[in-house]
Amino acid sequence: MSALSATEQELQKHFNAFHAARAASDLVTRLYAEAMGDAYPVEVAASSSCDFTLLGTMVTRLCLRPGQVLADIGCGTGGVGLWLARALALRLTGVDISPTAIELAAARRPAFLPQGRAQFRVGTLEATGLPGGHAHGVVCVDAMSNATDRTAALREIHRILHPGRAMITRAVRKDSGTAYGEQAKNAESTSTNGPANPPCGGACTGCGSPTRPPFDATSVTSSRRTCCARRTGCCPVSTGAVRA
Ligand SMILES: C[S@@+](CC[C@H](N)C(=O)[O-])C[C@H]1O[C@@H](n2cnc3c(N)ncnc32)[C@H](O)[C@@H]1O
Repeated sequence: MSALSATEQELQKHFNAFHAARAASDLVTRLYAEAMGDAYPVEVAASSSCDFTLLGTMVTRLCLRPGQVLADIGCGTGGVGLWLARALALRLTGVDISPTAIELAAARRPAFLPQGRAQFRVGTLEATGLPGGHAHGVVCVDAMSNATDRTAALREIHRILHPGRAMITRAVRKDSGTAYGEQAKNAESTSTNGPANPPCGGACTGCGSPTRPPFDATSVTSSRRTCCARRTGCCPVSTGAVRA
């Protein structure tokens, strides 16, 4: 991969430590599971806000066929891409700035896919190292906000996508959906906002109702009765598709 800037080196160091710590304990995984309840895809073990709703959005909006290539950019330990590649009989390429994450992702491959169906490599959002038109679809979950240059990252995604194909991304920050419009345009892409899906906990900023309640079993069960967990679309959009 190309040489990393000082900022990227810092980011790499940070995420190496992050992934090493996550691998050393199941504490964060248990907290995610408690917070998300039955929306939590245990097997994916994401280091992100990925839930079954997001996986469903990806399946329906990527429209991929068996044998096509999915790229998971900022893949972390690979669960999102591995889950999708198994579900849809795809080939997978995962890219992440953290060599620690890439090593962990490669070790998880046999639990999901036969040998030869997935490759993982160190790279950045702005320089994936993948050839042009490599992917029929891209996913990027909770990683885009770490791009050192968002427009350059979107241009890179545009470059590695087959023409007319889509990237599905999620950033949990408020207003990120709005910001994508202009940035996507600068990268010769268009962006559309997906279904609302608020981060766990707190109140819905649209209607003020609780989103997901604190971590206890009773609340988790009842969480499906809160407005956001019913997916009524009252919260700010945090999932988007960027089409090349
Ligand atoms: C919050 S984690 C999400 C990981 C994964 N997408 C998931 O859902 O489990 C963010 C990931 O983005 C990676 N990352 C952060 N900045 C990056 C960059 N500039 N280029 C590539 N990967 C980056 C981190 O190493 C980390 O694995």
